[in-house]
Amino acid sequence: MLFDKIVLATQNYDKVLEIQKLLANLDIEIATLDQFPGVPEVVEDRDTLEGNAQKKAEVIAEFTGLPAVADDTGLEVDFLNGAPGVYSSRYSGDQATYSDNVKKLLSELEGVPWEKRTAKFRTVIAFCLKGHTEFTEGFCAGIIAETPKGERGFGYDPVFYVPEFSSTFAEMDLELKNKISHRGKAFLNFKRILEQKQK
Ligand code: IMP
Repeated sequence: MLFDKIVLATQNYDKVLEIQKLLANLDIEIATLDQFPGVPEVVEDRDTLEGNAQKKAEVIAEFTGLPAVADDTGLEVDFLNGAPGVYSSRYSGDQATYSDNVKKLLSELEGVPWEKRTAKFRTVIAFCLKGHTEFTEGFCAGIIAETPKGERGFGYDPVFYVPEFSSTFAEMDLELKNKISHRGKAFLNFKRILEQKQK
């Protein structure tokens, strides 16, 4: 076997919970950053999702000596020409909370009709193994709702409405969200890459 342990290069506990479930049936141990005292905080200062994911995976692989996987996600709203995109976590400022960002998004879209509120979440995954990084991605299309709905999930979930399921991500249980989401699809692709490498 090429490796039996990889590390998740994310400090975001909400994402760790989702990703652990997504990778649960692999025959590989999934380590998290809280197991590595002194791990550097990686500043996400690149201007693409690919750039940020690559930076996180490479810094953490170097520090831990393990293969590292990182994801970077952006919400791309068509009416806003793809914003907030790579800036999704700090859309309303550097210390923005999830709810600050949702408020700003809703105010930018105030009065915009339903058919023009189309958006997609896009997740890019970078996997750094022995100094070489490869990428895969996944996306999920939806509509930005006019008011938040649902208590589950995180980030923009309460306003990300998926027409096929007549509900927002925040109204879905994690199993359904993982099945259809940007991150779910990206990690499915990632699992295929891992399986190929393990053969
Ligand atoms: P990150 O850079 O991948 O951590 O994601 C940037 C921001 O996008 C996060 O701070 C969240 O606000 C938002 N985000 C990422 N993934 C999701 C998701 O699955 N649902 C809702 N919001 C998300």
